[in-house]
Amino acid sequence: MIDINDLQKIYRMGDVEVRALDGVTLDIQKGEFLGIMGASGSGKTTLLHMLGLLDEPTSGNIIIDGTDIGRLSDYEKTMFRLYKLGYVFQDYALVPDLTVMENVSLPAMLRKDRDEEQIKNDSASILKKIGLYERQDHLPRELSGGQQQRVSIARAMVNKPDILFADEPCANLDSESSRVVLELFKEINEDFNQTIVMVSHEDWHKDYFHRIVRLKDGKVISDGFNGKDKKAA
Ligand SMILES: Nc1ncnc2c1ncn2[C@@H]1O[C@H](COP(=O)(O)OP(=O)(O)OP(=O)(O)O)[C@@H](O)[C@H]1O
Ligand SMILES: [Mg+2]
Repeated sequence: MIDINDLQKIYRMGDVEVRALDGVTLDIQKGEFLGIMGASGSGKTTLLHMLGLLDEPTSGNIIIDGTDIGRLSDYEKTMFRLYKLGYVFQDYALVPDLTVMENVSLPAMLRKDRDEEQIKNDSASILKKIGLYERQDHLPRELSGGQQQRVSIARAMVNKPDILFADEPCANLDSESSRVVLELFKEINEDFNQTIVMVSHEDWHKDYFHRIVRLKDGKVISDGFNGKDKKAA
């Protein structure tokens, strides 16, 4: 479903040239729970930003479900993100003055294809799934880090994205909360056949991934299935 061809991203700062991505070619299949791993500075976030239409490559192309995303206008990109992609960030990125329920509903409100009643129902059902339905009227700061991250996952899922992107979603969490978040991703992946692309540099996270792509200096140095072959997906 995602076809990545010879992707390059070069940052130029004065005379210095950083090859953040140096010829990445990958295919990602529907229903995969893919881990992108590698040391700090290896290009993980850069790759995720390219795939998530948050930044543009220097060269190469990305085809998602038959669409060459490099050819989309800015408006088309915005719509593509809103209708097809979901994001979870390291710092949760919840809106501080909105309640849990309002935060989760927000991306659905931006779309014009559901009425308010429907959005409320969808948001409620996803809040039940993540176990925070009772906290729907709370503000983000009244929740723990792990709970806030679960809310941000609910917000990413409310539009039923084709692909869920997560950049080090557990970076600010203790290992117990990290496990809860990873279990939630696993459940979403299994229950909805949700494609998930997650960046991590924590070695123990690899047990959760079906497939692990390792980057070093902007290049793929290994790409393999993780023994737990997903129903031969
Ligand atoms: N906006 C930018 N301008 C210049 N260089 C950048 C920029 N963003 C990233 N880089 C460089 O590109 C390389 C890859 O960065 P990237 O953020 O993708 O690494 P990462 O694997 O996500 O690292 P980390 O694990 O620390 O988050 C690094 O050398 C970084 O310094
Ligand atoms: Mg990063």
